[in-house]
This record gives sequence, structure tokens and C-alpha cells, in this order.
Amino acid sequence: MTFLFLCDATRGTVFAEVFSKHLPDVRFCMEPEAVDNDDIRFVMTWNVPDNLRRYPNLEAVFCIGAGVDQFAGATIPPGVKLIRMVDQGITGMVVEYVAMAVLSLHRNLHLYIDQQRRRVWEELEQHPQAVDRRVSVLGMGVLGEAALRGLQPFGFQLSGWSRSLRSIDGVTCHRGEAGLREMLARTDILVCLLPLTGNTIGILNDDLFSTLPRGACLVHAGRGRQLDADALVSSLDSGRLSGAFLDVTDPEPLPPEHPLWAHPRLVITPHIAASTQAESAALTTVQNVKRLLVGADPTGLVDLAELSESNFSDQR
Ligand code: GLV
Repeated sequence: MTFLFLCDATRGTVFAEVFSKHLPDVRFCMEPEAVDNDDIRFVMTWNVPDNLRRYPNLEAVFCIGAGVDQFAGATIPPGVKLIRMVDQGITGMVVEYVAMAVLSLHRNLHLYIDQQRRRVWEELEQHPQAVDRRVSVLGMGVLGEAALRGLQPFGFQLSGWSRSLRSIDGVTCHRGEAGLREMLARTDILVCLLPLTGNTIGILNDDLFSTLPRGACLVHAGRGRQLDADALVSSLDSGRLSGAFLDVTDPEPLPPEHPLWAHPRLVITPHIAASTQAESAALTTVQNVKRLLVGADPTGLVDLAELSESNFSDQR
């Protein structure tokens, strides 16, 4: 029984060690040619391999990242499970990134960076204090919930929005279209951690920005295609929004001539909010393989019907 690893060799080396220690009965392999197709039961990948049907005994495809939107149009053979990476290594980094960006916007760091570039020493009014600042998170899955919990110690007024109603102590939870508008109208810093689906493409647009109170800020760590970049630039220019952190763009990398680069109230990071940490991801994967081997559901199991329903093709 083979676990075929089709990602980078650096992480692969760590995975190989963890597998040999904790799952010695499963062969860990990084070279598809070195193993019989019939023997491959599990594949780990980031991109969609071109023909998974060549592995007749394939049971599960593991995505090495948290997002699985790249699999939306892919043909996953019937009966094969798709599993995304739900792992403390990724979650912890997302919590750090969101806390960093929210605190930076709250404390005007983006404006001070701009002042520094212009050699301006000038104190800006610090208003409001954290207890009066309303921070809302779009998406309350594992990452959204962890980000909200990470923000709690600072005393912000927290809200979250998700498709189905969630409940988190100390967080005002919203759902549905009406819930979204209600939350946006009471948001000073909006954090997007939504997955990319047919419903979330272009969700960060003019309409959404104009529902936020004037001067609100955005932290975007979802997917680039969720953001209408022109709407962001014009909202920042008009003062409708007063600052933003972007970790994702469309396209990536962002071309040097793109207007987003030069905006003085915008901080751009190159999709680094989280990256899969080999050691913890390998342990999580081993646990998931063990679950599959005893017929239990793995953590991060993707609902394939939902993934294909979010038909992206006509919205790209
Ligand atoms: C990163 O964006 C991921 O999906 O893991």
C-alpha cells in the first residue's frame, strides 16, 4: 500500500521520516514511476494531477494546503475522497497574520509606514480604542473561528459571518444575505477568510464596501479572485475605506505595473499568511490515513458535491 507524495521534496523528506516512524506499513513514495499504479492508495498534491484514474485502487487525494478551489473543475474518480489540510501549523499562522494585520490597521501602522517613506514625524489620532473597534470575520470555518479567538484577548468587539449559523462565545454570529449586511454595517475592520467558491468570487466589491461604515478597513487572506481590485482602489481613494492588508491577489504574483502596489494605504504581502508546516502536517496526515484505514472519516473531508456545485467556469 503506497502513499504517493507529489509535492516539494523538502517537505517530502520530513513526511517520509514521519511516515516511517508512525505508519511503517504504508510505503511513502515521491516518485510515481517507482511504484505500481495498482499499489497507490493515497496521493498528496497541491495541483490536480492530470489523470487520477490511472490509480485503480486510489482511496483518497490529500491536498497539501487548506484551500481546495483548484480542485473545483477536476475529475476525482467516483468513490475517491478529497481531503484538505486542517492542521495546527496552518491555523496558527493564519491567527498570527490576522492579529498582525488587524492590530496594524487598528494602530495606523499602514499610515505610519507611508509617513516614514515621506520622512514625516507626525502623531495620528488613536481612535477608537480596541474595546470600541468592531472587527468582523467573513468565514467561520476552522480558520475563521481560530482567528476570532486569537483576537479576543485584545478586547475588540467581534462578529463573524458564515453560511450556516455558528456559535462562538463572545462573538456575534451572523448568517445569510441579511446577516451579512447587518454585520457589515457595524464593522470597522473586515477580515476575509472565505474559501473561493462560485458564491464568493468577487464578493469584496463596491456594493460590499459601500455597506461598511465610512473609513472601515479590510484584511484579505482568502483568495485573490474574491476581490474587485478596482473597487478597492477607488474605495481607498474616496476615503470609503481607510486602509487594507492584502495577502492574496489576482493574478499572483501581482505584476509590477499593477496599481495596487503603489497605493499608500495598502499593505501587500505575497500569499504568506500561512504555509503548510511539514512536521505538523505530516503528523496530521498520518492520523488521517489511520482513520481511513479503519473506515473512519478523516479531518478536512471535502464535500465534493458542494465543490462541484460551486460552478466556477462561467464566473472566471
Ligand atoms: C494557502 O493559501 C492554502 O490554501 O493552504
